[in-house]
Amino acid sequence: MSERERVQSDEAKGPPAEDPRIAGEKHPVARMIGIGIAASLVGIAITLLIDWFPEPAASSAGKIDTLYDVLLICSVPIFVLVMTVAIYSVVRFRAKPGDMGDGPPIHGNTRLEVIWVTIPFIMVTALAIYGWITLDDLEAKQKNEMVVNVTGQQFTWTFDYPSEKVQTKELVLPVNRPIEFKIKTKDVIHSFWVPQFRLKSDAVPGLTTRIRVTPDREGHYEVVCAELCGLGHATMRQFVRVVPAAEFQSWISQQKKAAGGGGGGGGGAAPSGEQLFTSDGCSGCHTLKAAGATAKVGPDLGKLGDVDADFIRTSIVDPNADVTKGYEPNIMPQDFGDKLSKEELDALVKYLLESQE
Ligand code: CUA
Repeated sequence: MSERERVQSDEAKGPPAEDPRIAGEKHPVARMIGIGIAASLVGIAITLLIDWFPEPAASSAGKIDTLYDVLLICSVPIFVLVMTVAIYSVVRFRAKPGDMGDGPPIHGNTRLEVIWVTIPFIMVTALAIYGWITLDDLEAKQKNEMVVNVTGQQFTWTFDYPSEKVQTKELVLPVNRPIEFKIKTKDVIHSFWVPQFRLKSDAVPGLTTRIRVTPDREGHYEVVCAELCGLGHATMRQFVRVVPAAEFQSWISQQKKAAGGGGGGGGGAAPSGEQLFTSDGCSGCHTLKAAGATAKVGPDLGKLGDVDADFIRTSIVDPNADVTKGYEPNIMPQDFGDKLSKEELDALVKYLLESQE
């Protein structure tokens, strides 16, 4: 059929004779509902069978897992409904080959629109209230809480027990004791997350965010940064150990002893280069055999070759001054000169000089 003939035959037909949504299909809506219910049940079964999270290790995990299940049960049918209607429409109402005509004008369906606004509105409101009640429950202050300050920086976590005056790289918690984490960052946004505890909170510059957790299962779990924070984001992983209360106490006293006088003689307050290397985040990006660091974001600091103290000092405070071949500028934070005191910087430079292989 030529273009002209088709135009003529379209004109001859006049306006569409009947609504093509119903033509040749007795109960399209009933059939879609049938398919939708069957697909929803299958979808809900699959989502509930999937293990979304690892074995829980915090007393509040059960409530959070239930909340997730309820959210899944509510959202799967909506997803299935939308997809069923979309796929059905694409298959059933697609244009015949060569059909260049406009579709019939449709002015909407008030009843349908009221339904599809009201039902989701009620669902979302109910879920929001349920979520809020659960969150309020999780954030309630507990008796006998221990505060642990968590500090994120590119690309490491530091933990600080203010009641014990202990600062460490490893998080150790007594089992069944409520913990309040106060989370901060020294640079960009990070996110403090222990999947087994379920709760997660961003570390936001200028803010202290809080989460409350009561670990209830002894074990060794990963502390993960869950916010893309730079090139070393994937390496920003440490460990939390949940231990019996007595073991926690002996660990704390060990830490106090180590921080107290055992640093290797001298004035006691003199900063140790090795400690600074880990606590200030160098080990988050660099390899250094002497410190057991293996990160690969920046160059290996044990293989600097023939360098002097001035070169190392400049590389720390002004990392863009001389970028090692094969590495990009602006990756290393440029504010170590402000963060480190003169003594700390001296100690770090001396330590790196001594650690050359
Ligand atoms: Cu810190 Cu990602």
